[in-house]
Amino acid sequence: MPHIDLKYKPGEDLICEFYLEPAKGLSIRKASEQVAAESSTGTWTKVFTEKPYMEKFAARVFSIKGRQVKIAYPLALFEPGNIPQILSSVAGNIFGMKSVRNLRLVDIHIPKGLAKVFKGPKFGIQGVRNILGVKERPLVGTIVKPKLGLETEDHAKVAYKAWVGGCDIVKDDENLSNQGFNPFLKRIIKTLEMRKKAEEETGEKKVYMPNVTAETEEMLRRMKFVEDNGGKYAMVDLITCGFSSLQTLRERDFNLVLHAHRAMHAAFTRNKKHGISMMVVAKLARLAGVDQIHVGTVIGKMEGGKEVIGIAEWLRNEFHDLKTVFPVCSGGLHPAHIPKLIEMLGKDIVIQAGGGIHGHRMGTEAGAKAMRQAVDSVVENIAIKEYAKDRKELGIALKQWKC
Ligand code: 3PG
Ligand code: 3PG
Ligand code: MG
Repeated sequence: MPHIDLKYKPGEDLICEFYLEPAKGLSIRKASEQVAAESSTGTWTKVFTEKPYMEKFAARVFSIKGRQVKIAYPLALFEPGNIPQILSSVAGNIFGMKSVRNLRLVDIHIPKGLAKVFKGPKFGIQGVRNILGVKERPLVGTIVKPKLGLETEDHAKVAYKAWVGGCDIVKDDENLSNQGFNPFLKRIIKTLEMRKKAEEETGEKKVYMPNVTAETEEMLRRMKFVEDNGGKYAMVDLITCGFSSLQTLRERDFNLVLHAHRAMHAAFTRNKKHGISMMVVAKLARLAGVDQIHVGTVIGKMEGGKEVIGIAEWLRNEFHDLKTVFPVCSGGLHPAHIPKLIEMLGKDIVIQAGGGIHGHRMGTEAGAKAMRQAVDSVVENIAIKEYAKDRKELGIALKQWKC
């Protein structure tokens, strides 16, 4: 059965864009045909069990430009609503085939026929802004640091200081869950108490993003506990938990904003020649129904260049009537980064800083204040150095950390 037709014009197909380096001695044409076969109906050799009626199911290579290969997959190959099965097809065996030296799934174009069965985000950017009552500016968040080890009371105190200093959001770190030094249930109660106190003192809405990451049934129990105790958010490590459990969390339709951390993504997104791009992860996460997802920072500690901008823009744009997703920029950020970050990524972002707040010489509250002042300098269109002249928290931060 042919798996290549360079004259084929895709219709309502799922389309994948690959970067493909064929194995030594193999043409890219041959190698891409084998990728199309293995990721749809074929295998390494012709089998005599094939039936003529299967012709319509064959994935087809329809474009080869240098090492950029495009493959069209008939929708009938996919089970509506099943992200794991989509990935097992177009991001499964093919990465291990001997006929490719390198293979990267660079982008995936999901047609309405497949997207429409998914709930998508429950709140989206507008819904999150309504919860926080923040119309325009970027949301400012922090991660309680040290990332592990703090006891519950201390964790809650750090959160309180960050909120009164000006953070809208305080989140758990990606590897904090239910350890002995900071048990989940107790942390929710104590930290939500501090959130209430901070809201009363500041007159601003505040949110806490507890990390519910665990086995799926346990995550559902934790989300119910958060919802029952007045929480508005749940955070989940979407890669280590997997898309199946992410879909379960969304299907349960809690009245909680779903925030997705992407820890472990760089195991397969970082190598530009082999693996799966963060754009693909972001698109599937929107289908699965996250409201916010970490996309990188372009600057800051995590790698990820201009692709971050493309992902952020895609998340905020129209996609088959699914709600938008808040791009989250986090990782190595501090106040001096803010003007450049907003210039590159716009105002519809969540900016998070851990070290960039708790590492402020005057402490967490001042660190949060400095981050808000940095954001306000952009909103008021005043150069940050000018803005820092009569704002000591920002002034100290700019001296403490250079871009
Ligand atoms: C990300 O966007 O990958 C994370 O926010 C990086 O932050 P962390 O690795 O410090 O948790
Ligand atoms: C995150 O989970 O987003 C990170 O822990 C950010 O932490 P950092 O600002 O200290 O890099
Ligand atoms: Mg972290």
